[in-house]
Amino acid sequence: MCGIVGYIGTRKAQPILLDGLHRLEYRGYDSSGVALVDATLAVTHASGRISELETKLGGTVPASTCGIAHTRWATHGPPTEANAHPHRDCTGRIAVVHNGIIENYAELRTELEARGHTFTSETDTETLAHLIEEAMKAGKGLTSAVQTALRRVRGTYGIAVVSADQPDKIVIARLGSPIVLGIGDDELFVASDASAIIGHTRDVIYLDDGEMAVLGREGHRVMSHDAKVVTKETTELDWSDEDAQKGGHPHFMLKEMLEQPEVIRNSMRGRLNVEEGTAVLGGLRDVAGRLRDIDRLVVVACGSAYYAGLVGEYMLEEYAGIPVEVELASEFRYRKPLLTKRTAVLAVSQSGETADTLAAVREAKMKGALTLGIVNAVGSTIARETDAGVYNHAGPEIGVASTKAFLSQCTVFALLSVFLGRQRQMSLSMGKRIAEEMRRLPDLVAGILEGRDAIRAIAERYAATTDAFFLGRKYCAPIAFEGALKLKEISYIHAEGYAAGEMKHGPIALIDATFPTVVLCPKDSVYEKTRSNIEEIRARGGKIVAVTTEGNEEAQRFSDDVIYIPKTLEMLTPILAAVPLQLFAYYVSTSKGIDPDKPRNLAKSVTVE
Ligand code: F6R
Repeated sequence: MCGIVGYIGTRKAQPILLDGLHRLEYRGYDSSGVALVDATLAVTHASGRISELETKLGGTVPASTCGIAHTRWATHGPPTEANAHPHRDCTGRIAVVHNGIIENYAELRTELEARGHTFTSETDTETLAHLIEEAMKAGKGLTSAVQTALRRVRGTYGIAVVSADQPDKIVIARLGSPIVLGIGDDELFVASDASAIIGHTRDVIYLDDGEMAVLGREGHRVMSHDAKVVTKETTELDWSDEDAQKGGHPHFMLKEMLEQPEVIRNSMRGRLNVEEGTAVLGGLRDVAGRLRDIDRLVVVACGSAYYAGLVGEYMLEEYAGIPVEVELASEFRYRKPLLTKRTAVLAVSQSGETADTLAAVREAKMKGALTLGIVNAVGSTIARETDAGVYNHAGPEIGVASTKAFLSQCTVFALLSVFLGRQRQMSLSMGKRIAEEMRRLPDLVAGILEGRDAIRAIAERYAATTDAFFLGRKYCAPIAFEGALKLKEISYIHAEGYAAGEMKHGPIALIDATFPTVVLCPKDSVYEKTRSNIEEIRARGGKIVAVTTEGNEEAQRFSDDVIYIPKTLEMLTPILAAVPLQLFAYYVSTSKGIDPDKPRNLAKSVTVE
């Protein structure tokens, strides 16, 4: 949600900042801006995509070797040029870029205006620039002025600040919104996420909440907000620049869907012990004893990660025998979560930065529960704040609509079910059976992806629809929810996902010949029941797109269109069934001329509540 990039070094800053913004564009793309500093401060803003900013900047590259830049996903104030970051103070010599929300900005703004400050935007961020201005006017240097300003604000922030009065410095700080510092040779980088700077360095330092850093020509210094020096470890990123690029595909979303066989392999690598019918999860080793004793698991997550949690619920209850509840992280702390020392709270998050999921983890920790994570982004806040966890190893996911991360989350839930199941009642033969079948998953997914042209043809036939239902039962109910979410996110078609049995309790009233239904009806233990639901829809003139098991010939008779997926264990079917729905949404989106990587109103990582 919003992207920050900054550079100080020996090279011209502007091209590095623009390259970083392009890489961050998936985080927010409604306006952008850049501030270059030397004896003066030059700030340029544009609304719309980064290309608009490039047009405004023109072809000449300024000599400045220090600057900050931002791509925005609007929270306070519409996405106009005036509201684009960087924001300046009254003197025009200080510039701030900010991710997060200053909750007390209204009162701060009233106070600052009463003291004569003039605001040029409607943003919460601008208050920071004026607070820093006041502190510098009172004689403080930039670093200590930033500290003074931050003491006044309530809310969340990841910020980077420059000043023409101290042009050889970038001050950065973090509270609740990620900031990473990149270390190169004679140059330093800052970014809200490492994909912006991976082309320049793999050595990064993740700031923790309450920390700030000063980046200068002589190096960097990390400290707490009250100026105590903090010693930080440098992390070496294990993914490459290429991982974060499109690799010749028209969209990140397509590239990431096509990567899924490899992603599943990576999620399982070194973790499946087929001989002993179990899973080896190194990240849970330290808490294995406590996990043996848990009597309840609460999954907290948002969006697609929440649906992966619902898949996990079916798997874990059936195979590990542990009662599971899946909670929307955004609601978790508004209820009174009843957690005991024998409850484990498991956060599922691709980014590891989702504000609501993080808040749920903190609430659970406060109540003494064991906290666990299924997280993709290594070193992210949720990964660091949970007691233990399992990384997805899906690589960076850039497409806004989650695909490969979702599949890897479901894969990790299958591993977890085997691991926890074998700690309990699961037999060796059952463990072996699941592990063997899991090993086949990458090839099975690859087969579905190879058939994508047929799915494209079906998707194109439905691209003009204004509404759609997605139905599934048992393991496939969450996939119906996920399929509907994918379609609405990237094609702007109204889509609803329902557990198939719910249809006749109300939604069926909407069915007519113009309202198609995508039904997940693999040949599993609930096939006959879902089949009846299909007849109920057909009886009302509704069109059916069936996703069913290869060899199910009768599906041709009861459906308008059929997509086949291979046979696997029922518990693993959701992993296969999700793939055609991703492809369906993707091709509907592209055939409508929408850019699926940058759907309107969305941002990749939701770091505000
Ligand atoms: C949907 C999607 C979102 C995310 C949700 C959680 O395609 O991507 O619904 O799943 O915002 O994000 P993470 O997993 O980063 O916590």
